[in-house]
Amino acid sequence: MSVISNLEVFAERRRRFMDAIGPGALAIMPSAPVAMRSGDVEFVYRQDNDFHYLTGFAEPEAVAILAPGEPHEFILMVRPRDRERETWTGRRAGLEGAVAGYGANQAFAIEELDAVLRRHLDKVDRVYYPLSVNERMNARVLELMRYAQSMRPRLGTGPHTLLDPRELIHEARLHKRPEELAAMRAAIAISAEAHRQAMARARGGMMEWEVEALVDYTFRSRGAAGPSYPSIIASGPNAATLHYINNDRRMQAGELLLIDAGCEYDFYASDVTRTFPVGAAFAPLQRDLYQIVLDAQLQAIESIRPGIKFDDPHETAVRILVEGMCRVGLLKVPAEDALKSGAWRRFYMHRTSHWLGMDVHDVGLYRVGGESRTLEPGMVLTVEPGLYIAPNDETAPEEFRGIGIRIEDDVLVTPAGCEVMTAAVPKTVAEIEALTTAAAA
Ligand code: GLY
Ligand code: MN
Ligand code: MN
Repeated sequence: MSVISNLEVFAERRRRFMDAIGPGALAIMPSAPVAMRSGDVEFVYRQDNDFHYLTGFAEPEAVAILAPGEPHEFILMVRPRDRERETWTGRRAGLEGAVAGYGANQAFAIEELDAVLRRHLDKVDRVYYPLSVNERMNARVLELMRYAQSMRPRLGTGPHTLLDPRELIHEARLHKRPEELAAMRAAIAISAEAHRQAMARARGGMMEWEVEALVDYTFRSRGAAGPSYPSIIASGPNAATLHYINNDRRMQAGELLLIDAGCEYDFYASDVTRTFPVGAAFAPLQRDLYQIVLDAQLQAIESIRPGIKFDDPHETAVRILVEGMCRVGLLKVPAEDALKSGAWRRFYMHRTSHWLGMDVHDVGLYRVGGESRTLEPGMVLTVEPGLYIAPNDETAPEEFRGIGIRIEDDVLVTPAGCEVMTAAVPKTVAEIEALTTAAAA
């Protein structure tokens, strides 16, 4: 299902991009290559996000050519219709579909790419092409560039500059428009349901992969493409491993389960983490540590509004976490000293936020002019503080070892402040216990 089906949306994105690159420039945007999984089996195809952002076209072996000011500004190179091939791999839009369904002014078979590009390269002096998407396409485009450059002395025209189109597109992607927020809300609603299900149904004796299956079931049965990153289902000491994805341990009742799982809907990601006791209420120490992380998260979110720096919520979260670490005896120095020395990094080793959008770690600059970026309405960032005490950390009191807690929400910067887009996922101790203890009953 798609919430972004309106051709106008993509036309408007191309318009803005073409206005930015201006006449005399040509943008060549390749689709993502097909990736092999093993032997002759391919990974499920996933379009490149920048290509999709500008075209909405999800097929492989395609190239979009954008030529601002030309009679045909938007050309799509695609796989032609092919009855026999389509019997094996499914329907293609083909040339007609590229025009009728995607708004191309012209469409050609991808086999004609060299000829079509040659005609256009002669006429421009700047080429926008991303070198990081499709290796095989790089060789082809660079060879055509080289040839067109060699003709420049005779023709007086031809490309003298190769530019990266990504920063222009990424700045647009960083500022979410209404249709993008609608897709993100759809992804978030499904993830919220998955986390609630997991809280209500995880029990001692189950394998982590059973909870992963529950999460996947919710994602797919409600129309998401699947997880937007490998789901982390980390029980007990596994939660102290930040990117634990084996998900193959048997859980025990009462221990903490950290689930970092989000889905992709219509090319947009959600990214949500919750930590809860398996089929039980929080034990006192678990609750104390959980409350520290929650307080850090709530205060970091509270600080978010246009005009603050991207790094500000991180600094707020670190301060609250460090005060908590000192209070419970995880750090045995005054909070001010721990903040100065960085001793807290032993228990909180990642950043608090990243941009979120089509990519889970979304595009867009974090620093501008050497400084942390100022937040603006329409930006979406995660807020995800945590506390992680390795099972073998002998500097930590024994009862703290093997505990990992993270709480992650997706936050939209609004003109007046911010909106927690993931607010429907239970987060307070009482909300969580209402689900986890009902599961045990
Ligand atoms: N799930 C990846 C992250 O939280 O950044
Ligand atoms: Mn995240
Ligand atoms: Mn996450």
